[in-house]
Amino acid sequence: MFSHQQFLWYSTVPSTNDLAGALAERGAREGCAVIAEAQSAGRGRHGRVWSSPPGAGLYISTILRPPTHALSLLTIAAGVAVADAIQRATGLDCQLKWPNDVYAGERKLAGLLAEAGSMEEGDDADDSPRLRYVVLGIGINVMPAAHPADVAARATSIEGELGRGIDRGLLLTELLVSLSARYEELRGGHPQDVLSAWRARSASTLGRAVEWDAGGPRRGVADGIGDDGALLIRTEEGLERVISGEIRWT
Ligand code: BTN
Repeated sequence: MFSHQQFLWYSTVPSTNDLAGALAERGAREGCAVIAEAQSAGRGRHGRVWSSPPGAGLYISTILRPPTHALSLLTIAAGVAVADAIQRATGLDCQLKWPNDVYAGERKLAGLLAEAGSMEEGDDADDSPRLRYVVLGIGINVMPAAHPADVAARATSIEGELGRGIDRGLLLTELLVSLSARYEELRGGHPQDVLSAWRARSASTLGRAVEWDAGGPRRGVADGIGDDGALLIRTEEGLERVISGEIRWT
């Protein structure tokens, strides 16, 4: 059974993902987690900055050493775990936007940045190479904060949505519990549980008009996710699969 094994707490670091990656390179065990009160160079997906002022959010990166069969749905599973944890700890209803952004209404509440380490020789029967590690970084906006204007326009926070304070310790506990459970489902070869949970959390975002880039702008209607985590989009040309990148609601 997976569980977090070790916690390293900091007041400020450049990025918990960077620190966890450096620890993983030096052999830190699966389940080692880095948590910070603030990040001076927090990173988001697609090279963006993740604004991380002191005390405004939960910033955590966990080192995983997943088997190859668990890789394709790892961030889908983590997105489900984050959304479930927020709802269980605070009661706030939240949805998932493919692949793993957590939203309250039209504004982003939490995001995930998974970064893979280098390959190593496998120990499977077929000896195929496998990833040395994955650093799973999670940022949850807990309270309203002075974010840069572009972030402030798109982001929200749990306490901002609820209009009251929350128990951060409970949020962290629920996060660790649900991450462990979802990761175990994948490792144990039960991806259908993760996929059903993702679909249930995305009901309000499926059926929406979306745009994405594929050598030029494309448009369609989000239809669901495939068993490999790809987003299925209905277009005039037929059903398309988007396996990476980002979609925009229109
Ligand atoms: C996104 O763009 O949605 C992903 C945001 C991920 C932010 C988290 S905060 C903890 C970890 N450390 C980082 O530098 N980034 C991730």
